[in-house]
Amino acid sequence: MSKQGKLKVGVIGLGMGRFHLNNYAQSENAEPVAICDLNEDLLAERQKEFDVPHTFTSVEKMLEMDELEAVSVALPNFLHAPVSIAALKAGKHVLVEKPMAMNAEEGRKMIRAAKSADRLLMMHFNYRFSPAHFWLKKQIESGALGDIYFAKAFYKRRRGIPKLGGWFTQKKQSGGGALIDIGVHILDLTLWMMGYPEVKEMSGASFSKIGPQIARAQNKKFDVDDLSTGFVKFRNGAALFLEASWASNTGTPETYAEWYGDKGGASTQGGLKLFHEIGGEQVDSTLQPTIAVQTPQQHFVDCILKGTQPICPAEHGLTVQKILDAIYDQAKK
Ligand SMILES: NC(=O)c1ccc[n+]([C@@H]2O[C@H](COP(=O)([O-])OP(=O)(O)OC[C@H]3O[C@@H](n4cnc5c(N)ncnc54)[C@H](O)[C@@H]3O)[C@@H](O)[C@H]2O)c1
Repeated sequence: MSKQGKLKVGVIGLGMGRFHLNNYAQSENAEPVAICDLNEDLLAERQKEFDVPHTFTSVEKMLEMDELEAVSVALPNFLHAPVSIAALKAGKHVLVEKPMAMNAEEGRKMIRAAKSADRLLMMHFNYRFSPAHFWLKKQIESGALGDIYFAKAFYKRRRGIPKLGGWFTQKKQSGGGALIDIGVHILDLTLWMMGYPEVKEMSGASFSKIGPQIARAQNKKFDVDDLSTGFVKFRNGAALFLEASWASNTGTPETYAEWYGDKGGASTQGGLKLFHEIGGEQVDSTLQPTIAVQTPQQHFVDCILKGTQPICPAEHGLTVQKILDAIYDQAKK
């Protein structure tokens, strides 16, 4: 901890890591003291941009810094588990990017490492951190929708494959394609609103149809799903439908979820809407909540400094990961 009572933080991986760095730099009680990336040009640029005192091209060397108290892990997916575990063992708190890991087995190891090091391991499920989503969560918790018994989650792109041919489209480094990359965001958001009920059974399917055609034409590697879908049944009787695509012949690329409760419904399609029946009439409300919401990084830092539990615990990351595993396993059969 610095003299001003600020938590000393570091960021590993400076693609999406730049977003983390920016949010730490703007936090009242965090001080970015170290950044790490293999790319020295990026390191120099970010050091200049955020005035960070220490730069590293080696994760191991960065983790040797005693004063460093917490890190964001924003590396390609195959590095989430080994680097998070190394950081936890070195006594650092960890905010890990989505997806938690390559599979649930790695996720379990990460949770064990956090418990034995007595350090916080938090998921970076940033889609939750918007005024609309925070406000809706509050309404759901106060019973505005009643019991949610069905939900639908969509993250559909017509043509939107990230960094074709790079680590995103190679299963050994990403663990999968559209589902593990963008499906996780909307799946997490939908489950969070439902209170993360316990999964009972599920089915799913994965496809790789359009991505390979585009990759072949550009002589790039692509061995992951470009569209995946799943149907989850929960022990409390509720159910959820999920669709995630990077490339599909869909008319409308969209990211949204819908929740069906026995007192009301909600949708985020084209903005937040609530559906109720009042005095025998069907009433639709369109809302633009303005409540203040922390950044995930500020929340992470606050939880560490105050010793409180985060809203995105590692266990939520593991539940999501188990659902992804089940969908990918079914695709192999
Ligand atoms: N939450 C979100 O909205 C969101 C958005 C984009 C990406 N992500 C996640 O962030 C993670 C990174 O994705 P990205 O888009 O930034 O990828 P990226 O490829 O743009 O960046 C990864 C960075 O990690 C660096 N790197 C790779 N191996 C390294 C190593 N061994 N040591 C140090 N640095 C290393 C690379 O040089 C690169 O700069 C992924 O897990 C991805 O799923 C999350």
